[in-house]
Amino acid sequence: MSTAAEGPGMEISMTVNGEARSARVDPRTLLSDFLRHDLGLTGTHVGCEHGVCGACTVLMDGQSVRSCLLFAAQANGMRVETIEGLATRPDAMHPLQDAFWEHHGLQCGFCTPGMILSAKELLAANPAPSDEEIREAIAGNICRCTGYTFIVEAIRSAAEQMRAEAGAAEVRSDG
Ligand code: FES
Ligand code: FES
Repeated sequence: MSTAAEGPGMEISMTVNGEARSARVDPRTLLSDFLRHDLGLTGTHVGCEHGVCGACTVLMDGQSVRSCLLFAAQANGMRVETIEGLATRPDAMHPLQDAFWEHHGLQCGFCTPGMILSAKELLAANPAPSDEEIREAIAGNICRCTGYTFIVEAIRSAAEQMRAEAGAAEVRSDG
Protein backbone atom coordinates (compact mmCIF):
# COMPACT_ATOMS: atom_id res chain seq x y z
CA MET A 1 0.00 0.00 0.00
CA SER A 2 1.26 3.46 -0.75
CA THR A 3 0.80 6.51 1.42
CA ALA A 4 2.54 8.81 -1.06
CA ALA A 5 0.97 12.16 -1.78
CA GLU A 6 2.01 15.27 -3.62
CA GLY A 7 3.27 18.05 -1.39
CA PRO A 8 6.34 19.45 0.32
CA GLY A 9 9.05 17.23 1.71
CA MET A 10 10.80 14.26 0.23
CA GLU A 11 9.56 11.02 -1.20
CA ILE A 12 10.74 7.87 0.56
CA SER A 13 10.06 4.20 -0.05
CA MET A 14 10.83 1.19 2.08
CA THR A 15 9.55 -2.26 2.85
CA VAL A 16 7.90 -2.41 6.26
CA ASN A 17 7.02 -5.85 7.56
CA GLY A 18 7.13 -7.19 4.03
CA GLU A 19 4.88 -4.51 2.58
CA ALA A 20 6.10 -1.80 0.20
CA ARG A 21 5.41 1.62 1.69
CA SER A 22 6.09 5.02 0.25
CA ALA A 23 5.36 8.47 1.57
CA ARG A 24 6.29 12.09 1.34
CA VAL A 25 7.89 13.20 4.59
CA ASP A 26 9.61 16.17 6.11
CA PRO A 27 13.35 15.40 5.92
CA ARG A 28 13.54 15.81 9.72
CA THR A 29 10.87 13.18 10.42
CA LEU A 30 12.26 10.55 12.74
CA LEU A 31 11.90 6.91 11.75
CA SER A 32 10.09 6.22 15.05
CA ASP A 33 7.56 8.98 14.31
CA PHE A 34 7.14 7.81 10.74
CA LEU A 35 6.39 4.26 11.88
CA ARG A 36 4.06 5.30 14.67
CA HIS A 37 2.27 8.31 13.24
CA ASP A 38 2.38 7.88 9.47
CA LEU A 39 2.05 4.11 9.35
CA GLY A 40 0.15 3.58 12.61
CA LEU A 41 2.64 0.97 13.84
CA THR A 42 2.49 1.96 17.49
CA GLY A 43 4.12 -1.25 18.68
CA THR A 44 7.41 0.59 18.31
CA HIS A 45 7.60 2.36 21.67
CA VAL A 46 9.34 5.63 22.31
CA GLY A 47 10.85 6.22 25.74
CA CYS A 48 13.91 8.38 26.11
CA GLU A 49 14.10 9.68 22.50
CA HIS A 50 17.86 9.90 23.02
CA GLY A 51 19.12 6.48 22.02
CA VAL A 52 19.48 5.26 25.59
CA CYS A 53 16.57 2.97 26.49
CA GLY A 54 16.23 0.77 23.40
CA ALA A 55 12.42 0.81 23.51
CA CYS A 56 12.25 2.07 19.93
CA THR A 57 14.44 -0.72 18.51
CA VAL A 58 13.44 -2.01 15.07
CA LEU A 59 15.33 -4.08 12.50
CA MET A 60 16.65 -2.40 9.38
CA ASP A 61 17.91 -4.89 6.82
CA GLY A 62 18.10 -7.35 9.72
CA GLN A 63 20.16 -5.12 12.01
CA SER A 64 18.78 -3.61 15.17
CA VAL A 65 18.65 0.18 15.14
CA ARG A 66 17.20 2.79 17.45
CA SER A 67 14.45 4.35 15.39
CA CYS A 68 14.44 7.52 17.54
CA LEU A 69 17.96 8.30 16.34
CA LEU A 70 17.32 7.86 12.63
CA PHE A 71 15.48 9.97 10.14
CA ALA A 72 12.83 8.15 8.16
CA ALA A 73 14.77 9.17 5.06
CA GLN A 74 17.71 7.07 6.26
CA ALA A 75 15.53 4.00 5.91
CA ASN A 76 14.81 4.83 2.28
CA GLY A 77 15.18 1.67 0.19
CA MET A 78 15.64 -0.49 3.29
CA ARG A 79 13.75 -3.43 4.76
CA VAL A 80 12.28 -2.44 8.12
CA GLU A 81 10.78 -4.86 10.60
CA THR A 82 8.72 -3.89 13.62
CA ILE A 83 7.05 -5.98 16.29
CA GLU A 84 3.85 -6.03 14.21
CA GLY A 85 5.64 -8.02 11.51
CA LEU A 86 6.93 -10.80 13.74
CA ALA A 87 4.04 -13.25 13.67
CA THR A 88 3.82 -14.67 10.18
CA ARG A 89 0.39 -16.24 10.71
CA PRO A 90 -2.71 -14.52 12.07
CA ASP A 91 -3.46 -17.44 14.40
CA ALA A 92 0.00 -17.90 15.93
CA MET A 93 2.61 -15.75 17.60
CA HIS A 94 6.32 -15.86 16.83
CA PRO A 95 8.24 -18.25 19.16
CA LEU A 96 9.84 -15.22 20.84
CA GLN A 97 6.43 -13.75 21.57
CA ASP A 98 5.17 -17.09 22.88
CA ALA A 99 8.24 -17.49 25.08
CA PHE A 100 7.98 -14.00 26.57
CA TRP A 101 4.36 -14.78 27.38
CA GLU A 102 5.07 -18.20 28.89
CA HIS A 103 8.17 -17.22 30.86
CA HIS A 104 6.83 -13.93 32.20
CA GLY A 105 9.37 -11.97 30.20
CA LEU A 106 7.24 -8.85 30.47
CA GLN A 107 5.30 -6.89 33.02
CA CYS A 108 4.30 -3.42 31.77
CA GLY A 109 5.45 -4.38 28.27
CA PHE A 110 7.01 -1.05 27.43
CA CYS A 111 10.44 -2.49 26.68
CA THR A 112 9.11 -5.68 25.11
CA PRO A 113 8.95 -4.87 21.38
CA GLY A 114 12.51 -3.55 21.37
CA MET A 115 13.69 -6.41 23.55
CA ILE A 116 12.14 -8.99 21.22
CA LEU A 117 13.61 -7.41 18.09
CA SER A 118 17.08 -7.35 19.67
CA ALA A 119 16.58 -11.02 20.53
CA LYS A 120 15.47 -11.77 16.98
CA GLU A 121 18.64 -10.22 15.61
CA LEU A 122 20.69 -12.32 18.03
CA LEU A 123 18.98 -15.61 17.17
CA ALA A 124 19.33 -14.99 13.42
CA ALA A 125 23.10 -14.83 13.89
CA ASN A 126 23.45 -17.25 16.79
CA PRO A 127 20.66 -19.83 17.11
CA ALA A 128 22.10 -21.33 20.33
CA PRO A 129 23.34 -18.43 22.44
CA SER A 130 24.65 -18.78 25.97
CA ASP A 131 22.96 -16.78 28.73
CA GLU A 132 25.99 -14.51 28.64
CA GLU A 133 25.49 -13.88 24.93
CA ILE A 134 21.78 -13.23 25.47
CA ARG A 135 22.54 -10.71 28.21
CA GLU A 136 25.05 -9.01 25.95
CA ALA A 137 22.58 -8.83 23.05
CA ILE A 138 19.93 -7.11 25.19
CA ALA A 139 22.38 -4.91 27.09
CA GLY A 140 21.12 -1.85 25.21
CA ASN A 141 17.48 -2.52 26.09
CA ILE A 142 16.43 -1.20 29.47
CA CYS A 143 13.67 -2.92 31.44
CA ARG A 144 12.42 -1.26 34.60
CA CYS A 145 10.16 -4.13 35.65
CA THR A 146 11.44 -7.66 35.26
CA GLY A 147 15.00 -7.76 36.56
CA TYR A 148 15.95 -9.41 33.22
CA THR A 149 16.09 -13.01 34.51
CA PHE A 150 12.77 -14.01 32.96
CA ILE A 151 13.66 -12.21 29.75
CA VAL A 152 16.85 -14.25 29.43
CA GLU A 153 14.87 -17.43 30.16
CA ALA A 154 12.32 -16.47 27.51
CA ILE A 155 14.97 -15.89 24.85
CA ARG A 156 16.73 -19.15 25.74
CA SER A 157 13.43 -21.01 25.47
CA ALA A 158 12.54 -19.35 22.15
CA ALA A 159 15.96 -20.32 20.79
CA GLU A 160 15.30 -23.96 21.73
CA GLN A 161 11.86 -23.84 20.13
CA MET A 162 13.18 -22.26 16.94
CA ARG A 163 15.97 -24.84 16.68
CA ALA A 164 13.41 -27.62 17.13
CA GLU A 165 11.19 -26.11 14.43
CA ALA A 166 14.15 -25.70 12.05
CA GLY A 167 15.14 -29.34 12.71
CA ALA A 168 11.61 -30.56 12.03
CA ALA A 169 11.44 -28.55 8.79
CA GLU A 170 14.73 -30.09 7.68
CA VAL A 171 13.43 -33.60 8.35
CA ARG A 172 10.27 -32.84 6.36
CA SER A 173 12.25 -31.51 3.39
CA ASP A 174 14.51 -34.59 3.47
CA GLY A 175 11.50 -36.87 3.56
FE1 FES B 1 14.90 5.36 21.27
FE2 FES B 1 14.94 5.32 23.95
S1 FES B 1 13.31 5.87 22.61
S2 FES B 1 16.46 4.63 22.55
FE1 FES C 1 8.16 -2.93 31.97
FE2 FES C 1 10.26 -4.06 30.72
S1 FES C 1 8.34 -4.97 31.22
S2 FES C 1 9.96 -1.97 31.20
